[in-house]
Amino acid sequence: MKYKILELLTRADGYVSGEKISEKFNISRSAVWKHINALRKDGYEINSSTNKGYRLTVRPDTIDAGLLEKHLTGRVYYAKEIKSTNLWAKSAEDVPDGSLFITESQTGGRGRLGRTWSSPMGDGICMSLYLKPEISPAIVSQLTLVAGLAVSRVIEDAKIKWPNDVLIDDKKICGILTEMSAEMDRAEFVVIGIGININNTSFPEDLADKATSLYIEKGVKYDRNTIITDFLDNFRTLYNDFLKHGFLALKAEYEEKCVTLGRKVRIIRGEKEVIADAVRITDGGELVVIYGGKETIINSGEVSVRGLLGYN
Ligand code: BTN
Repeated sequence: MKYKILELLTRADGYVSGEKISEKFNISRSAVWKHINALRKDGYEINSSTNKGYRLTVRPDTIDAGLLEKHLTGRVYYAKEIKSTNLWAKSAEDVPDGSLFITESQTGGRGRLGRTWSSPMGDGICMSLYLKPEISPAIVSQLTLVAGLAVSRVIEDAKIKWPNDVLIDDKKICGILTEMSAEMDRAEFVVIGIGININNTSFPEDLADKATSLYIEKGVKYDRNTIITDFLDNFRTLYNDFLKHGFLALKAEYEEKCVTLGRKVRIIRGEKEVIADAVRITDGGELVVIYGGKETIINSGEVSVRGLLGYN
């Protein structure tokens, strides 16, 4: 509850009355006061005025590992700076299932297809989930789609570019890199690396027309801990559905949010390039495209899919 109140104060332009908070969340005024004090203990500075209510003035701008751990089945591994949370997670030993590797800044953030991921200090979210699902390596790539869907639930107006980018206004706000260690028929562990641009005020010239942040889009600074905990809660629900029923259970929501469908896309496989129409997603999360009058199924790992206009 305290984080719901925090979210409300974060988005408010000025004071929010105790009455409004208690009505909105259906809790007593003394419960509101208790949650406000709990937030103050966490380092948030909140002014209170008898007539006007509460106003958030200062927020602690660091990752709160203790808070995040409450939303996980495993542990939080936190470092102020690290080369890459994916590399860190993959090389760590005795990691419990459902753990999170997280940092304020990466010096060698990695993207898909050998690209890099820019991760300036404190601006964004750089984290890797460590999971030990009992699934075949053949369907591990579907977890990328599950994570993308969870991010899209948390970020207002977000859309998904198949397979793994989250966009606002056709610009990339989040990228996901899933890696695994597997035996023939069983994934030993899976690392889902997620980078979200939150409070970045600008991007290097080569990214400026393709990338965006929540701050650039909405004009307000966001609390990263709130976004991460929201993400973890949503991911857990979707992940459990996925493990029980497969990607099919999530497909309708994924398709609804997927901007790739109905568009012409450029499929880039090594040196080869074709233009195709993206028509649907299969029950296993692959993209079905039509070119040369024929349907072809594209698997997420092997190609880069680009729109014809702009980034998407
Ligand atoms: C992409 O869009 O190409 C994927 C980007 C993935 C970036 C995240 S940031 C946290 C994790 N650690 C990494 O080195 N990469 C992923």
